[in-house]
Amino acid sequence: MNKPVTGVGVREITQGDFFPIPVFQVPVPEMAPFHKEIIALFDDLLAKGELGPHTNGYGYQTKTNLFDPNSFPQPYFREILLAAFRQACLQILSGTVTDFSPDLNHSWFNTFNTGWGVVQTNETWPTEIPWHTHLPAVLSGCYYISTSPSSEEGNLQFSNPIMPNMFQPKFAEVAPTEGHMLIFPSFLNHRPSATPSIGKQRRLAICMDGHWTSRIGDFADKPAEFAG
Ligand SMILES: [Fe+2]
Repeated sequence: MNKPVTGVGVREITQGDFFPIPVFQVPVPEMAPFHKEIIALFDDLLAKGELGPHTNGYGYQTKTNLFDPNSFPQPYFREILLAAFRQACLQILSGTVTDFSPDLNHSWFNTFNTGWGVVQTNETWPTEIPWHTHLPAVLSGCYYISTSPSSEEGNLQFSNPIMPNMFQPKFAEVAPTEGHMLIFPSFLNHRPSATPSIGKQRRLAICMDGHWTSRIGDFADKPAEFAG
């Protein structure tokens, strides 16, 4: 996580390359004032039994309705966290390699986003946390409200999409930082590592999927220009 990412945007984004596929880290300091409230919110959901184990995915997760104001009226989820995620995604995408000619006015268009909360406790389950992707999203993010005090636990692990070879590791992992968002390509197989000794301080992450599409100028209005 040491390469600065420039592009259309002002977010302080650093990049680490694994396999080598980029994973990005973005501080979101404007969310810090809400951390205590969010921890209390999720503690309350757990206490009321509204986050049942494996009900909405592995472990304790909300549905993917965190950005739905009818389900979560707290404005900071949408107005601060989602806004920061979209802003960072655009900054990242604007620097991506495309095969389009620059004179075609290529741009990225955000179609929709989903968000959900994931709480990790020190409970052990009969099965391990499964590897998964977030396809068909384009970029996925995890914002960390609280993390494990051990850098050996609760890390975001990635699996090499290329067959094992002598030049690259099979797995890589990033130790999350509270108040920071990790963003990665949604096709990348990943999972959080377990937190068996985390104690009372739970690992709490807000996860997000960003769906983006590539747009070339006003292509939709002028199909005939590209038909031949
Ligand atoms: Fe995931």
